Amino acid sequence: MIITVDGPAGAGKGTISAHVAKTFKLAYFDTGMVYRAVGLQMVLSGYALEDKQKALELAENMTFPQMMALAKHKDFRSDIGSHAASVISAYPEVRAALLKMQRDFALNPVFADGTPADGVIYDGRDTGTVICPEADVKFFVTAPVEIRAQRRHKDYVVAGIDTTYETVLAEMKKRDERDQNRASAPLKPAPDAVMFDTSLDSEPNNLAKVVEIIKQKLNL
Ligand code: DC
Repeated sequence: MIITVDGPAGAGKGTISAHVAKTFKLAYFDTGMVYRAVGLQMVLSGYALEDKQKALELAENMTFPQMMALAKHKDFRSDIGSHAASVISAYPEVRAALLKMQRDFALNPVFADGTPADGVIYDGRDTGTVICPEADVKFFVTAPVEIRAQRRHKDYVVAGIDTTYETVLAEMKKRDERDQNRASAPLKPAPDAVMFDTSLDSEPNNLAKVVEIIKQKLNL
Protein backbone atom coordinates (compact mmCIF):
# COMPACT_ATOMS: atom_id res chain seq x y z
CA MET A 1 0.00 0.00 0.00
CA ILE A 2 1.33 3.45 -0.94
CA ILE A 3 -0.29 6.62 0.40
CA THR A 4 0.83 10.20 -0.26
CA VAL A 5 0.06 13.31 1.77
CA ASP A 6 0.88 16.61 0.04
CA GLY A 7 0.14 20.17 1.09
CA PRO A 8 1.68 23.40 2.39
CA ALA A 9 3.65 23.90 5.64
CA GLY A 10 1.63 23.50 8.82
CA ALA A 11 -1.44 22.02 7.08
CA GLY A 12 -1.20 18.86 9.20
CA LYS A 13 0.70 16.50 6.86
CA GLY A 14 2.94 15.22 9.65
CA THR A 15 0.13 14.55 12.14
CA ILE A 16 -1.99 12.80 9.52
CA SER A 17 0.93 10.78 8.14
CA ALA A 18 2.08 9.61 11.58
CA HIS A 19 -1.47 8.50 12.46
CA VAL A 20 -2.02 6.69 9.15
CA ALA A 21 1.40 5.02 9.44
CA LYS A 22 0.50 3.72 12.92
CA THR A 23 -3.04 2.66 11.97
CA PHE A 24 -2.09 0.73 8.82
CA LYS A 25 1.45 -0.29 9.96
CA LEU A 26 3.20 1.58 7.16
CA ALA A 27 6.75 2.92 6.98
CA TYR A 28 6.77 6.71 7.11
CA PHE A 29 8.93 8.85 4.81
CA ASP A 30 8.93 12.57 5.67
CA THR A 31 10.36 13.85 2.37
CA GLY A 32 10.89 17.40 3.70
CA MET A 33 13.81 15.91 5.65
CA VAL A 34 15.92 15.43 2.52
CA TYR A 35 15.62 19.13 1.61
CA ARG A 36 16.12 20.21 5.21
CA ALA A 37 19.29 18.08 5.39
CA VAL A 38 20.79 19.64 2.26
CA GLY A 39 19.67 23.16 3.26
CA LEU A 40 21.09 22.89 6.78
CA GLN A 41 24.35 21.41 5.47
CA MET A 42 24.66 24.48 3.19
CA VAL A 43 24.27 26.76 6.21
CA LEU A 44 26.67 24.73 8.39
CA SER A 45 29.28 24.64 5.61
CA GLY A 46 29.05 28.42 5.22
CA TYR A 47 27.86 28.24 1.60
CA ALA A 48 25.49 30.90 0.23
CA LEU A 49 22.06 29.39 -0.41
CA GLU A 50 22.23 30.91 -3.91
CA ASP A 51 25.20 28.63 -4.71
CA LYS A 52 23.29 26.03 -6.77
CA GLN A 53 26.45 24.09 -7.61
CA LYS A 54 27.32 23.51 -3.95
CA ALA A 55 23.70 22.57 -3.20
CA LEU A 56 23.80 20.05 -6.03
CA GLU A 57 27.08 18.54 -4.77
CA LEU A 58 25.64 18.15 -1.28
CA ALA A 59 22.40 16.63 -2.67
CA GLU A 60 24.30 14.14 -4.81
CA ASN A 61 26.30 12.96 -1.81
CA MET A 62 23.51 13.00 0.80
CA THR A 63 22.94 9.60 2.47
CA PHE A 64 20.23 8.38 4.85
CA PRO A 65 22.59 8.20 7.87
CA GLN A 66 23.82 11.77 7.18
CA MET A 67 20.25 12.98 6.91
CA MET A 68 19.35 11.33 10.23
CA ALA A 69 22.39 12.89 11.93
CA LEU A 70 21.52 16.38 10.61
CA ALA A 71 17.92 15.90 11.83
CA LYS A 72 19.25 16.10 15.41
CA HIS A 73 20.63 19.62 14.88
CA LYS A 74 18.77 22.43 16.67
CA ASP A 75 18.21 24.34 13.42
CA PHE A 76 16.88 21.38 11.41
CA ARG A 77 13.28 22.50 12.06
CA SER A 78 13.84 26.15 13.02
CA ASP A 79 13.16 29.11 10.66
CA ILE A 80 16.83 28.89 9.58
CA GLY A 81 16.46 25.26 8.45
CA SER A 82 13.00 25.89 6.95
CA HIS A 83 14.24 28.85 4.94
CA ALA A 84 17.33 27.00 3.68
CA ALA A 85 15.22 23.97 2.67
CA SER A 86 12.71 26.16 0.86
CA VAL A 87 15.46 27.93 -1.15
CA ILE A 88 17.48 24.87 -2.21
CA SER A 89 14.34 22.79 -2.94
CA ALA A 90 13.50 25.25 -5.75
CA TYR A 91 16.59 24.15 -7.75
CA PRO A 92 15.51 21.52 -10.33
CA GLU A 93 18.95 19.86 -10.33
CA VAL A 94 18.83 19.43 -6.55
CA ARG A 95 15.33 17.90 -6.76
CA ALA A 96 16.46 15.52 -9.51
CA ALA A 97 19.47 14.43 -7.43
CA LEU A 98 17.21 13.62 -4.45
CA LEU A 99 14.44 11.93 -6.45
CA LYS A 100 15.83 8.40 -6.67
CA MET A 101 16.51 8.15 -2.92
CA GLN A 102 12.86 9.06 -2.26
CA ARG A 103 11.33 6.84 -4.97
CA ASP A 104 13.42 3.81 -4.08
CA PHE A 105 12.07 3.82 -0.53
CA ALA A 106 8.72 2.44 -1.80
CA LEU A 107 10.52 -0.57 -3.34
CA ASN A 108 11.79 -1.73 0.06
CA PRO A 109 9.99 0.23 2.77
CA VAL A 110 11.40 -0.21 6.27
CA PHE A 111 10.46 1.05 9.73
CA ALA A 112 12.86 3.27 11.69
CA ASP A 113 14.42 0.15 13.29
CA GLY A 114 15.15 -1.37 9.85
CA THR A 115 12.44 -4.08 9.86
CA PRO A 116 10.48 -4.41 6.58
CA ALA A 117 7.04 -2.81 6.19
CA ASP A 118 4.17 -3.76 3.86
CA GLY A 119 3.78 -0.26 2.55
CA VAL A 120 4.71 3.36 2.89
CA ILE A 121 3.17 6.73 3.56
CA TYR A 122 4.98 9.65 1.92
CA ASP A 123 4.64 13.09 3.49
CA GLY A 124 5.71 16.01 1.28
CA ARG A 125 4.72 18.54 -1.32
CA ASP A 126 5.20 16.60 -4.52
CA THR A 127 4.82 13.03 -3.31
CA GLY A 128 1.51 12.41 -5.12
CA THR A 129 2.51 14.30 -8.25
CA VAL A 130 6.22 13.46 -8.75
CA ILE A 131 7.61 10.94 -6.24
CA CYS A 132 4.79 8.41 -6.38
CA PRO A 133 2.07 9.25 -8.94
CA GLU A 134 1.03 5.56 -8.82
CA ALA A 135 0.12 5.77 -5.10
CA ASP A 136 -3.08 3.98 -4.01
CA VAL A 137 -4.53 6.96 -2.13
CA LYS A 138 -3.41 10.60 -2.38
CA PHE A 139 -4.34 13.43 -0.04
CA PHE A 140 -3.80 17.16 -0.45
CA VAL A 141 -4.22 18.77 2.97
CA THR A 142 -4.77 22.49 3.42
CA ALA A 143 -5.73 25.12 6.03
CA PRO A 144 -5.72 28.95 5.99
CA VAL A 145 -2.19 30.39 6.38
CA GLU A 146 -3.00 32.09 9.73
CA ILE A 147 -4.04 28.76 11.25
CA ARG A 148 -0.98 27.00 9.82
CA ALA A 149 1.29 29.71 11.26
CA GLN A 150 -0.42 29.42 14.68
CA ARG A 151 0.22 25.65 14.71
CA ARG A 152 3.85 26.04 13.60
CA HIS A 153 4.44 28.74 16.23
CA LYS A 154 3.04 26.41 18.92
CA ASP A 155 5.42 23.64 17.75
CA TYR A 156 8.35 26.07 18.00
CA VAL A 157 7.37 27.14 21.54
CA VAL A 158 7.16 23.47 22.60
CA ALA A 159 10.56 22.81 20.98
CA GLY A 160 12.06 25.81 22.84
CA ILE A 161 12.71 27.75 19.60
CA ASP A 162 12.61 31.49 20.29
CA THR A 163 10.39 33.22 17.70
CA THR A 164 7.12 35.20 17.43
CA TYR A 165 3.82 34.35 15.73
CA GLU A 166 4.30 37.36 13.41
CA THR A 167 7.73 36.11 12.30
CA VAL A 168 6.40 32.60 11.64
CA LEU A 169 3.40 33.99 9.70
CA ALA A 170 5.59 36.26 7.55
CA GLU A 171 8.07 33.44 6.83
CA MET A 172 5.23 31.03 6.03
CA LYS A 173 3.66 33.46 3.54
CA LYS A 174 7.04 33.85 1.84
CA ARG A 175 7.51 30.07 1.70
CA ASP A 176 3.99 29.54 0.31
CA GLU A 177 4.70 32.07 -2.42
CA ARG A 178 8.06 30.46 -3.28
CA ASP A 179 6.71 26.89 -3.13
CA GLN A 180 3.65 27.69 -5.30
CA ASN A 181 5.39 29.78 -7.94
CA ARG A 182 8.64 27.94 -8.49
CA ALA A 183 9.20 26.44 -11.92
CA SER A 184 10.27 23.02 -10.63
CA ALA A 185 7.60 20.91 -8.86
CA PRO A 186 5.35 23.78 -7.74
CA LEU A 187 3.02 22.94 -4.86
CA LYS A 188 -0.20 21.67 -6.44
CA PRO A 189 -2.63 18.79 -5.87
CA ALA A 190 -2.50 15.65 -8.01
CA PRO A 191 -5.62 15.52 -10.23
CA ASP A 192 -6.88 12.48 -8.30
CA ALA A 193 -5.97 13.76 -4.81
CA VAL A 194 -8.55 13.89 -2.00
CA MET A 195 -8.71 17.58 -0.91
CA PHE A 196 -8.80 17.82 2.90
CA ASP A 197 -9.05 21.09 4.86
CA THR A 198 -7.84 20.37 8.41
CA SER A 199 -9.23 23.66 9.82
CA LEU A 200 -12.85 22.52 9.46
CA ASP A 201 -12.92 19.97 12.28
CA SER A 202 -11.03 18.84 15.40
CA GLU A 203 -7.79 16.85 15.09
CA PRO A 204 -9.30 13.54 16.34
CA ASN A 205 -12.23 13.89 13.92
CA ASN A 206 -9.91 14.72 11.02
CA LEU A 207 -7.73 11.68 11.74
CA ALA A 208 -10.79 9.41 11.94
CA LYS A 209 -12.10 10.80 8.62
CA VAL A 210 -8.76 10.22 6.86
CA VAL A 211 -8.66 6.60 8.05
CA GLU A 212 -12.24 6.12 6.85
CA ILE A 213 -11.43 7.58 3.41
CA ILE A 214 -8.49 5.16 3.03
CA LYS A 215 -10.61 2.18 4.11
CA GLN A 216 -13.36 3.12 1.64
CA LYS A 217 -10.97 3.72 -1.27
CA LEU A 218 -9.15 0.43 -0.70
CA ASN A 219 -12.19 -1.64 0.31
CA LEU A 220 -10.58 -2.51 3.67
O1 DC B 1 7.61 19.72 4.88
P1 DC B 1 8.78 20.57 5.37
O2 DC B 1 8.33 21.85 6.02
O3 DC B 1 9.71 19.80 6.25
O4 DC B 1 9.59 20.98 4.04
C1 DC B 1 10.72 21.82 4.05
C2 DC B 1 10.93 22.44 2.66
O5 DC B 1 11.29 21.39 1.76
C3 DC B 1 9.73 23.16 2.06
O6 DC B 1 9.89 24.56 2.00
C4 DC B 1 9.64 22.67 0.64
C5 DC B 1 10.59 21.54 0.53
N1 DC B 1 9.98 20.28 0.17
C6 DC B 1 9.80 20.02 -1.16
O7 DC B 1 10.11 20.87 -2.00
N2 DC B 1 9.30 18.82 -1.57
C7 DC B 1 8.92 17.88 -0.67
N3 DC B 1 8.42 16.71 -1.09
C8 DC B 1 9.08 18.14 0.71
C9 DC B 1 9.60 19.36 1.09
